[in-house]
Amino acid sequence: MSKIKKIAVLTSGGDAPGMNACIRAVVRAGHFYNLEVMGIVKGYSGMIDGNFIEMGAHSVSNIIHRGGTILKTARCKEFMTEEGMNKAYQQLKSQKIDAVVVIGGDGTFRGANAFSNTYDIPFIGIPGTIDNDLFGTDFTIGYDTAINTVVQAVDKIRDTAESHDRLFFIEVMGRDAGFIALRSGIGVGAEAILIPESKTHIDQLITLLEKGWKRKKTSSIVIVAEGDDAGGAFAIAEKVGEKFKQYDTRVTVLGHIQRGGSPSCMDRLLAGKLGVAAVEGLLNGEQKVMVGLIHKSIVYTPFEHSTKHHVEINQDLLRIAEILSS
Ligand code: F6P
Repeated sequence: MSKIKKIAVLTSGGDAPGMNACIRAVVRAGHFYNLEVMGIVKGYSGMIDGNFIEMGAHSVSNIIHRGGTILKTARCKEFMTEEGMNKAYQQLKSQKIDAVVVIGGDGTFRGANAFSNTYDIPFIGIPGTIDNDLFGTDFTIGYDTAINTVVQAVDKIRDTAESHDRLFFIEVMGRDAGFIALRSGIGVGAEAILIPESKTHIDQLITLLEKGWKRKKTSSIVIVAEGDDAGGAFAIAEKVGEKFKQYDTRVTVLGHIQRGGSPSCMDRLLAGKLGVAAVEGLLNGEQKVMVGLIHKSIVYTPFEHSTKHHVEINQDLLRIAEILSS
């Protein structure tokens, strides 16, 4: 029998579509197992400030389809200090919280890991980020919606690119990872996909665009991950434009549009599965782990691994992207 009677849930880091569906899943699973559930508003800052709210089963009605997070989110530097963690611990104790579910990305889990190394309240993590860059899960909550948002936006840009015979450089999110760029790039049939994981050679890119031009390709789409080693979309467009002047060139930065909107069914489903698995994991004694889905199975990965291990880009997808754009 688990000693856990009361849990708290928070969202932290960049928001991601499906976080609300996940809060709902944690709250509903908590009540299913007769636990009391509290929400912490504004991530770790709310934990430090004692910003707790009660979450009855009906507090999460009508949120499954909403983007953003009803609990709000923040990136909190104070939580990484000894003093900040101690304040947070005192607040959790005064609320009689036995365990905490944190929904977020690698920064969120680094915080959870540091806290768990000193304090005895169990933490469990659920991957919620559009970046899909966490070790220990095939997909993170929000990624599917984000790549679909990119596809919808680029389809529209393709219409105008085609009408004006233009070359478009489109920047998508991913400071350190090219997962959004790679999958959405294949989805939109991009001529080239530039990601931080593989070196960008401007000359090779120009050769590729020239080949297309010679084949009478009048418009082209290049997807650029914001963290690409050759710079963002504006910088790359400028470098290409200096040597290759055939196309009339434009740049679009999709930005935070990728973080908003109603979650896809895949993200809602993932949120439901991981929310339930997090609560059940806690009741079964799991702690200091992130719950993920690998090859359709629930897997609990220690925070230390989920934050330190680098997720490899799928080389096969890179190869496929190259074949399809040739
Ligand atoms: O981590 C999610 C993410 O959306 C990244 O892809 C992006 O680089 C970053 O957050 C943007 O953060 P902010 O909203 O603080 O500008």
